[in-house]
Order: sequence, then structure tokens, then C-alpha cells
Amino acid sequence: MITESPRFGDSSVITDEEPNLEVSGLSVAYDTDAGPLTAVDGVDLDVRPGEFVAVVGESGCGKSTMAFAIAQLLSPPARITAGEVRFRGQNLVTMTEAALAPVRWRNLSVVMQSAMNALNPVLRISAQFADAMQAHGVRDKAEIRERSEQVMDLVGIDRAHLASYPHQLSGGMRQRAMIAMAQLFTPELVIMDEPTSALDVVAQRSLMLQIKELQRQLGFAVIFVTHDMSLVSHFSDRLMVMYAGQAMEFGPTRQVFDAPAHPYSRGLLDAFPSITGPRERLQGIPGSPPALQAMPAGCRFQPRCPVAFADCETVAPPLYPVDDVQARCLLHAPERSGR
Ligand SMILES: Nc1ncnc2c1ncn2[C@@H]1O[C@H](COP(=O)(O)OP(=O)(O)O)[C@@H](O)[C@H]1O
Ligand SMILES: [Mg+2]
Repeated sequence: MITESPRFGDSSVITDEEPNLEVSGLSVAYDTDAGPLTAVDGVDLDVRPGEFVAVVGESGCGKSTMAFAIAQLLSPPARITAGEVRFRGQNLVTMTEAALAPVRWRNLSVVMQSAMNALNPVLRISAQFADAMQAHGVRDKAEIRERSEQVMDLVGIDRAHLASYPHQLSGGMRQRAMIAMAQLFTPELVIMDEPTSALDVVAQRSLMLQIKELQRQLGFAVIFVTHDMSLVSHFSDRLMVMYAGQAMEFGPTRQVFDAPAHPYSRGLLDAFPSITGPRERLQGIPGSPPALQAMPAGCRFQPRCPVAFADCETVAPPLYPVDDVQARCLLHAPERSGR
């Protein structure tokens, strides 16, 4: 158990506790007319109780596909082609839908990018909460009402809005209603896929603060997916930088920000304004991520990499340990780095 409240972005909260999620060798393909295209390629990811793990990368890097795969929410043409998702000791990949249903929501819940898509537009918020609870065996009307009010209180929306339809709420309130819904069963793990990206900058920050405060109060672990690295700098304990379906760098958030070990991480950092620093012209990374059917040989980032050398075109790097992080870059190969 976490005994003291975590400090934002402080890797010292990382405990030696057993992870409650262990993803290993996870691969996902989309079946297309041209054959299966691999969108997530051999990702390893562990999340410890109460930990906030961020997954960042440009659009199209496979973040959502991975988030859906972990939650077992993929549908054709996507399918898991390899790997395990162990949650509380069970491999979710091989579980039947019937066995998964009670795990989802109760132990693990998901908040997606657009509440407008996830919420049913023709049902009042109260009815959506009731449906979710009834689907998981809660029949008592008073209990449903009480829990619905509690979760609205948790996210700071007036209980009166239980009677509202989604379109009657602001964008920020809808996202908070989704987060409230994800808390109906006090899950141990909440997977959030760009939950703030439909909001303006001010609403994004306030929602981030609220998510962090909820996490501190309730102690759930978070996998937080975003394309905006600056958003999570003060909130996540560890950070995974994803590119072309692979983890390029994974380690304590502070270390990745202070000394990015992978040129792609550095490029991403340069591409987003710092919240506190002076306003600078942003560099960005020239070019765009590769299409799934045209993965470069060697390092997948090599065609865009400012420090690539000859081997990068032919040698596909594994993850190398670099201090407390792991980085998929030949610069850190022992024979090169002298480690
Ligand atoms: N239904 C689909 N069929 C084929 N390819 C897909 C499909 N959905 C997504 N992809 C591809 O999978 C890759 C990863 O997409 P996604 O997981 O949405 O990335 P991210 O969330 O990082 O933006 C992209 O190259 C995307 O084009
Ligand atoms: Mg996405």
C-alpha cells in the first residue's frame, strides 16, 4: 500500500510492490486487404498499485490501440497477435468475455477521449450510471442513487446534473462525468486515453489536477495516454515514449524530462512548450511517423533522427538500460556507449 500521498512527478513514490498490471510482449495487428499490419509491437509495461504511468507519442504511434488491447476492448479488424496482459495475476488475453465482464469496471475501468462518443446522448447521466451498475449486478435503487451522487461529488459536478443529458453539460463536465462513471466501482486501475484532449488548455489543466487529486484520495493506478508530453510532466511517475508501435523509452518521468535518452523523446520535448519556461519557437520533429505497411528497417525512428548513423539503417535496437530508464537506441549499445 502507498502509505504517504505521492508528490507530483516524483519518482520516489515508486514502490517495490508487486505490479498489479504486467503487460509482456503485447502485439496487436489490424487485418487489412494487404494482410495483417502490426500497430503495437512487443510492448512490455508494468504498473504498480497507485502508480501514474503516462504513455506519450505522436498521433498514429499505436497508443490507443495499446490502451484498448490492455482493456480487452479491441474489435475486428484489430486483434492481439502475441503477448500477455496479466492483471491481478490473471491473463486477460485468454479470458472469455463472460469472465472479463466483472473485471472490467469493477477492477479496471476506461475513460476515452470523447465523452460525447462514450456517453449515450439520449440518456440522462443518472440512467447511464444506473445501466453500468445494473450491468454489474447492483440492483438496489437506493444504492445506485447513493453511489451516483457520491461519484458526482468526487469529480465536483453538482448532483443536480444527474438529471442532465450529455449535451447539457460543458465539454469539461462531460469528461468529468466519464471519470465519475469510471469510479462507480472504485477500480484499482483506470486507463485514460487522451481524456483531456477535446478541452481548451485551461480546462485541461484543471481536469489533470482533479484526476491527480482523485488518484491521491482513492489510490487507483492510472495509465494515461496523451500526445502532449508537457501535460503529464508534473503528474506521472513513469513515462513510456511510444513510436511506430514500440516503446522507445520507458522510465521515471523526471529522468526522461531532464535527460531524455532517446532522440525521439528529445524531439517530443522540444515540440511542446514548457509550462513555466520562456516562450520559444518550437522545433517539432520534421516528417511524420511511418505507415504500418512501410516500417523502416533498422531503427524505426532513423529516417527522422537528427543523430542517426550508418548502423541505424540496418540494426533494429532492443531496449538498453540507461541509468533508471530503458531506451531503444543504438547510441546506448554497450559497445558504443562504453557502458
Ligand atoms: N481499423 C484500422 N485498420 C488499419 N489500421 C488502423 C486501424 N485503426 C488504426 N490503425 C492504424 O494503427 C496505427 C495506430 O493507431 P492508434 O492506436 O490510433 O494511434 P494513436 O492512438 O497513437 O494515435 C496507426 O498507424 C493507424 O493508422
Ligand atoms: Mg489515440
